[in-house]
Amino acid sequence: MGSELIYRGHETQPASDSYSPKPDKPWASVTRAARYMLREQRLLFVLVGIAIATLIFTIIPTSRVPLPPHTTTPILDSITYFPIDAQNKFSYQHRLGIGSGNPTGKIPLGLKRKGLRIVVTGGAGFVGSHLVDRLIARGDSVIVVDNFFTGRKENVMHHFGNPNFELIRHDVVEPLLLEVDQIYHLACPASPVHYKFNPTNVVGTLNMLGLAKRVGARFLLTSTSEVYGDPLQHPQKETYWGNVNPIGVRSCYDEGKRTAETLTMDYHRGAGVEVRIARIFNTYGPRMCIDDGRVVSNFVAQALRKEPLTVYGDGKQTRSFQYVSDLVEGLMRLMEGEHVGPFNLGNPGEFTMLELAEVVQETIDPNARIEFRPNTEDDPHKRKPDITRAKELLGWEPKVSLRKGLPLMVSNFRQRIFGDHKEGSSSINKASSG
Ligand SMILES: NC(=O)c1ccc[n+]([C@@H]2O[C@H](COP(=O)([O-])OP(=O)(O)OC[C@H]3O[C@@H](n4cnc5c(N)ncnc54)[C@H](O)[C@@H]3O)[C@@H](O)[C@H]2O)c1
Repeated sequence: MGSELIYRGHETQPASDSYSPKPDKPWASVTRAARYMLREQRLLFVLVGIAIATLIFTIIPTSRVPLPPHTTTPILDSITYFPIDAQNKFSYQHRLGIGSGNPTGKIPLGLKRKGLRIVVTGGAGFVGSHLVDRLIARGDSVIVVDNFFTGRKENVMHHFGNPNFELIRHDVVEPLLLEVDQIYHLACPASPVHYKFNPTNVVGTLNMLGLAKRVGARFLLTSTSEVYGDPLQHPQKETYWGNVNPIGVRSCYDEGKRTAETLTMDYHRGAGVEVRIARIFNTYGPRMCIDDGRVVSNFVAQALRKEPLTVYGDGKQTRSFQYVSDLVEGLMRLMEGEHVGPFNLGNPGEFTMLELAEVVQETIDPNARIEFRPNTEDDPHKRKPDITRAKELLGWEPKVSLRKGLPLMVSNFRQRIFGDHKEGSSSINKASSG
């Protein structure tokens, strides 16, 4: 029986029994399917499915803009900044509501300037806190981002409670997202004592450039005259490429800032970020870190404490000293101006270390002794800015001489070292009148 069943298909059938399919009835299968769907409530499911698919296909194209064929998929904004996706590029002018009719960003005369939202990294430090004072006075909203490595809350405490001021404790080596118009990037240990322990230049700059690109903000880098190293050109022009030891004890700072400049220009050229670069020469003034190894603060603190002034080497190496208010004016002009830079911002008045020690003796204590110590490695022999470019293009030059600026710093240091403004006030008066 079983074998019959198995082999039946192979038997030849009589012609009269042969299978002839029924002629096709049009719509028969369609009506059968429709009836099945109605009976089993499948229609409802089909309609719901169509509705969901329609919804998905209308939403997806608006949230995901397809990249141009040559564009690589961005992974980390701070790293993949080439090439620019034009659709994602925010323009600084556009952000400020300045149309193409005014590409320079200058406010027409007679119109009141709109307050900006500005982030100052390192704003609790020496230069940063003075910059914050000026920006707040101008009517801008300022967000200070600082990890207090060398900065102090005291430097900005007078703004606490002002609705235009915010302070964020944050390390710029970690990314941060803020909606701002301008970024002044100062966060970086600036003195030899500190930068050897915390070379944060490069990662912090990358993060802040990434932020500038993302929100369409203008970015200003505070670079340094150290990019010229031990210069073979004197005075130093911005066109000079420098003479820097890439593996010396100072190179974490010098080369870090050089790399920061490179990244800044790459973001400018490659990602269309609006950037400004300042090369700052030695700056002094109130709120400078005491005992941080910078020559002016060293001499002033030593003279006030009646300690000998330590001069490294023969004391004939030269520096130029700029008062902090002059620097802040230069930084703001650079940020608001039309030129990327780099710009030297410094006072061209040149002093040897011995001459500086004499000015400190005149100002604080004529009897202060000078003590010579062996020079530090890679200490530059000469430093003096050529500021022709800043004069011509920013209309900027320093106003405060060393003999006028030093007494202002001394009174602040005296207060911080002795906690008493009156102590030794006679020498302040003497300096002011001198
Ligand atoms: N003062 C000068 O003579 C001079 C000269 C050349 C360049 N500069 C540059 O100007 C900027 C300001 O210098 P300054 O003299 O005010 O120094 P500073 O040490 O007083 O200020 C630096 C500030 O940055 C903060 N900071 C450091 N690392 C940080 C980090 N990872 N995250 C967040 N905050 C951080 C510090 O806490 C401090 O408040 C620096 O970039 C410096 O390189 C200064």
